[in-house]
Amino acid sequence: MFNTIGVIGLGVMGSNIALNMASKGEQVAVYNYTRDLTDNLVGKTEGQLIYPYYKIQDFVHSLETPRKIFLMVTAGKPIDSVISALVPFLEAGDVIMDGGNSHYEDTERRYDELKSKGIGYLGIGISGGEVGALNGPSIMPGGDKDVYAKVAPILTKIAAQVDKDPCCVYIGSKGSGHFVKMVHNGIEYADMQLIAEAYTFLRKRLGLSVNEIADIFETWNQGELNSYLIQITAEILRKKDEITGLPLIDVILDKTGQKGTGKWTSIQAIDTGIPSSIITESLFARYISSLKEERVYAENILSGPEMDQRSLDKDLWIEYIRQALYMGKICAYAQGFTQYKMTSELYGWDLPLKDIALIFRGGCIIRAEFLNVISETYQAQPNLANLLIAPYFAEKVKEYQIGLRKVACEGINSGISFPCLSASLTYYDSYRTDISNANLLQAQRDYFGAHTYERTDLAGFFHTNWQ
Ligand code: 6PG
Repeated sequence: MFNTIGVIGLGVMGSNIALNMASKGEQVAVYNYTRDLTDNLVGKTEGQLIYPYYKIQDFVHSLETPRKIFLMVTAGKPIDSVISALVPFLEAGDVIMDGGNSHYEDTERRYDELKSKGIGYLGIGISGGEVGALNGPSIMPGGDKDVYAKVAPILTKIAAQVDKDPCCVYIGSKGSGHFVKMVHNGIEYADMQLIAEAYTFLRKRLGLSVNEIADIFETWNQGELNSYLIQITAEILRKKDEITGLPLIDVILDKTGQKGTGKWTSIQAIDTGIPSSIITESLFARYISSLKEERVYAENILSGPEMDQRSLDKDLWIEYIRQALYMGKICAYAQGFTQYKMTSELYGWDLPLKDIALIFRGGCIIRAEFLNVISETYQAQPNLANLLIAPYFAEKVKEYQIGLRKVACEGINSGISFPCLSASLTYYDSYRTDISNANLLQAQRDYFGAHTYERTDLAGFFHTNWQ
């Protein structure tokens, strides 16, 4: 009997996807470039519907047609190498799916190359980390709709399920699935950084212990901030280091890495004129964190304000921080979803914003209660320019801006850096300003470069002889 699907790339994510598929009744052929990972997986999966192959042609020939092949290979050149190795054995109508964090432009190039050979290509965003891959991730497939139809029964089955709905929906053509995953990761960076800033305020300015902060995050997770990232933050703060007995967080070096997707999100936003300041600040916060040695040196040279010793009303300020975090989150998601909307218009993708919010409710790293509200918002107003101006969010930020302003000012006055909280406030205030200072910029540009300007009262472009 032929295998119903094949998985190539048996690192943790690939192995878990294969196990997930097998647990849902698929007969899964597996192949890895090196033999060790295949043996490792097969050694642990006796009795399950997982069948190892050690030659790529044997792997391909074991699959029922049209063949469905899922790649869980490191993004970049390795994907091209695997595709080149596969193609000689494939037939028109077969489908290759790339489930890694590939750049959407690479996906578009591969799509075009394979389409000319009659092979279907889907760029599939997968979120949820190792556990999600095994138990049900959020899945964002992009490519031709008829090609998606061939694999939809499997993808919807292995996805996370929320209210009996699979967290997998057809996103749109060509690279749109990987694009949606890329911006998901940009939002993820911002969300993580906002949480880290709330933690810093609680720790440094309110002087709370790690355990007390864990309690606060647990409480927040019961309310409108309910989300996977808040939940794991509470769990992280509870964890003790086995060597020193200290909270583990206190022995983890404060230097953050990144694999590229957040950076791509910012680059794409900058290239296409999309204001994505919160997401970009979260990326820069990672870059500054990596200058650890310089920061240690600079602390001895550069002075800040004396840390304000005034004691703050604890309960009141915890509520301000909660509001600041929620509003920061609204602003960050508003930027991410604006990036979806503007890019969708640019490429004619027609991204289903309502459904994207729905499939983010389960499986993925940014899963959160308030994605329900985002989805309902786009259901009611599909062409909404910005989430901030939707009635629910406008009302929320009207109320919560007080908290964000208080926390941002108090943090700045205490010398605590708040890249994302302050960028959120700046974004909010800039977005709601009808007459900005860009008129002065235009005048300066015209003064030194004769770049011309538009007037508020007459049509056309004008130049002034300023001297
Ligand atoms: C997910 C994650 C996942 C991963 C990224 C980001 O949605 O499951 O986003 O794709 O964690 O690799 O990692 P970096 O922080 O290293 O860029």
